[in-house]
Amino acid sequence: MLLGDDGELRPTIFAEMSALAASTGAINLGQGFPDEDGPVEVLDAARTAITDGINQYPPGLGLPVLREAIAEHQERFYGIRVDPATNVLVTAGATEALAATILALTDDGDEVVTLEPFYDAYAAIIGLSRATHVTVQLRAPDFQPDHDDLRAAITDRTRLIIINSPHNPTGSVLPRETLELLIELAHKHDALIVTDEVYEHLTFGVEHIPIASLPGAVERTITISSAGKTFSTTGWKIGWIVAPSELLAAIVAVKQYLTYVNGAPFQPAIAVGLRLPDEYFTTAAATLAAKCDILSAGLGAAGFAVSRPQAGYFVIADASPLGVTDAADFCRALPTLAGVVGVPVTAFVHPDRRNGYSSLVRFAFCKKVELLEVASAQLAGLRTT
Ligand SMILES: Cc1ncc(COP(=O)(O)O)c(C=O)c1O
Repeated sequence: MLLGDDGELRPTIFAEMSALAASTGAINLGQGFPDEDGPVEVLDAARTAITDGINQYPPGLGLPVLREAIAEHQERFYGIRVDPATNVLVTAGATEALAATILALTDDGDEVVTLEPFYDAYAAIIGLSRATHVTVQLRAPDFQPDHDDLRAAITDRTRLIIINSPHNPTGSVLPRETLELLIELAHKHDALIVTDEVYEHLTFGVEHIPIASLPGAVERTITISSAGKTFSTTGWKIGWIVAPSELLAAIVAVKQYLTYVNGAPFQPAIAVGLRLPDEYFTTAAATLAAKCDILSAGLGAAGFAVSRPQAGYFVIADASPLGVTDAADFCRALPTLAGVVGVPVTAFVHPDRRNGYSSLVRFAFCKKVELLEVASAQLAGLRTT
């Protein structure tokens, strides 16, 4: 629930859409959670950990086995060498990692730059920290930031530059040139970089380049990720931070009063996941890409203009060819019109900047193939309504 402009408490559009899905029985493509279980090795490891008694508070930084697996993962996939004892912190999902980072590293009035649309928690946490939220717009169809816009937004007032690549909600992946510019600007203005990489393994034929792997970045970058998307364990809320030790120490000081610790038996299980062979990661991405194709084709056939995502769980569909001018109203009607739930992209945009996003809807494709096929068939009816 959030306070509206009138001071009334009202549900977020996400809660409203989930409630609508539940009350109408519509197919819920609004929320980004998989409807199939992740790798059996990971699930079995969690059961074993519970049986073996790993059920009490883990150490504040997280169980050593997971911190070591995170460090190994960074080196194995990206060539980034980190010390599991001083550079790695396990968190209650990427959400707590973001909260602890922003609260620890900003003071009242500092500017925090994000891309827009943005994952909704960013604005809420920046607000909690009393920092000022500055955004750089991403526009259809490729949803990449304009380099001059980045130069204008990042100034000496900027404390944090938060990037999210692969990006939610648009599915875009930042190319090397943009990442290099961001590093240059961070140096020029003495800003820190926070990179949210929760979809790091779910790319569709494009390379995910962690900004910390590029020259000049690692000493001023806080890398955040999570097991939820990679291993279809969104409910376990196991996330992590990799950062220089002095920055991590400041973040730990906040994190200890948010949750202190979480998910003891899930931590060794995610360590097992991070050590799975390459084939697991490539198959997970390929399976998701095929699902993306099914839903994108369905949305296209229904009359939407579809932007092809490069990664992640979501596709953005422009409903303007169907005569839609207000995607929020359209999403409220969609369960009745087509038995499907989506989320308006304006939910990821500051209220003053909704123009340019007002006919866009985000749909999740991290669902069973059969469900995506039924949703596509139901959406096809929109052409005739
Ligand atoms: C971009 C982005 N960051 C962070 C999160 C939150 O991750 P977690 O569930 O690990 O807290 C999500 C979840 O949807 C996300 O899309």
